[in-house]
Formats: sequence, structure tokens, C-alpha cells
Amino acid sequence: MSTHTSDSSSTPNQVKVALGIDIGGTGIKGAPVDIATGELLSKRHRIPTPENSTPDAVGAIIAEMVNYFDLPSDAPVGVAFPAPIRHGVIKFIANLDKSWKGVNLEEVVSQAVGRSVSVLNDADAAGYGEALYGAAKEEEGTILVLTLGTGIGSALIVNDTLVPNTEFGHLEMNGGDAEKEASAVSRERNELDWDVWANGPLQQYFSMVDMLLSPDLIVVGGGVSKAHEKWMPLLNVECPIIPAELRNNAGIAGAAAWAAEHIG
Ligand code: BGC
Repeated sequence: MSTHTSDSSSTPNQVKVALGIDIGGTGIKGAPVDIATGELLSKRHRIPTPENSTPDAVGAIIAEMVNYFDLPSDAPVGVAFPAPIRHGVIKFIANLDKSWKGVNLEEVVSQAVGRSVSVLNDADAAGYGEALYGAAKEEEGTILVLTLGTGIGSALIVNDTLVPNTEFGHLEMNGGDAEKEASAVSRERNELDWDVWANGPLQQYFSMVDMLLSPDLIVVGGGVSKAHEKWMPLLNVECPIIPAELRNNAGIAGAAAWAAEHIG
């Protein structure tokens, strides 16, 4: 996938910098991003997610994040959020305050920051970031990006186009949500050694997504991708599986690029 500003025919009006904000269960992280390269232009700033993670509380933190950076006046804001989002509205929410269901996130963010904003699912942002700037940037075909963290996030990119809100972490596995058994947090909660997790619930999950989607490449992100040597070689699927490259910055870079693409 190529970035729209790396092309020599770019017009001078195209957005060069956007602020990416990634909202997670424990931290809200942000940084200004160079849209041509995906590089963070300052050290990322992290604010802990409030225990009571309501729309008002999170909106206030997003405003604080925007004010923290000295941004160009035309820099848009892209927000990655851990839920499916249809036309700005949260459809359901697994790992933040339940009051988010039905809320228009795009409105909450634009009211909080008074700039152009664009919102998307957190795994979609990470996948978009990896496809534009990271592990999958040279790849064509069907790319599945999975983020293993508190839940399991998914991004499906088919010939450079993101198919949003795939929510493959909620596929049914053993009668429940797959993410409840196969996420990184469930490995810790169930005190599973890496090999037991990889050969058990993770293999079952990967076999299922491989069977359903026949991807050309699977990229795995989330905190556990740092320790990929401990479990990735144990997985057996038909396509290559590689670790994410941008690690914790994928969501920030992807959200910023999405905002630049959709607003600029
Ligand atoms: C949510 C997804 C999110 C994933 C990772 C899931 O529980 O439903 O929208 O992408 O967690 O945060």
C-alpha cells in the first residue's frame, strides 16, 4: 500500500501532519505523525484511561491530548477506538464503559477538540498503519492483521482496501467469544505457558480464521508481538504469519493516516 503524500504528484494542500490518538483499556496514547513516512514527530504522550471510561471522561482526555502538542493549525485528529464504529457511532463495546453503546464518537471528539476529526476501530487503525508503513507495506492480496491484547482486534485489508469493523475476536469458539480464550490477557489470566497457549486456544483460533478467510498473510500485533519468538513459530497455518513492525505505534500512525486521507 502506498501513502498518498509519497507520490510526486501530491498537491501542496495535502495534509502532512495529523495527530493520531489510540484509546485503549489502560492508556490513551497520542503523537503527531508524518503522513508521508508514518514516523512519530514527537515522543508519544500517554494518559491513563480513567476507571470510569465514560464518553465525557474520555472526551476530556482527548482534548487534553490535543492541547499537549504544538500542532499545525490544519492538522486533523484521528482517533482509534476499541469498538466497531458505523458512521461515527459505537455499535457495541466489550472492554470500556458500557455507556459508549450508541454514542456518536465522532461528535464527542469534534466537540472536545474543535478540529477536523476522523474515527475508526483500533484494530483497523493498527492494520491500516501496518499496511501503509509497516510489516505489510509491500504486500498485496488479502491481509489479516490481528491484535492480541485485552481482546482480539482484527483488520482485513484486501488489495489495499480496508474492510472495516470485522470484529473477528468475537467469532464463536468453544461456545463463547474467541477473545475470552485466545487473547493475550486470557493467557495471563489463565496462567498458561507460551507453548500451552500457542498449541491450544491460539492454534484453534488461527486455524479458524485461516479456514474462513484464506488470507495471503497474517500480521500479529499487540504487546505479545514483542515476544513473538516464544509462540509464533509454534503456530501451524497455511499462510505466512509475521509480527507487526510498528508495535504500539501502529494504531497512532494508522489513525493519523486515516484522518489525513479522509479529511485532508
Ligand atoms: C472489540 C474490538 C477491538 C478489540 C481490540 C474487541 O473486544 O470488540 O472492536 O478492536 O477488542 O481492542
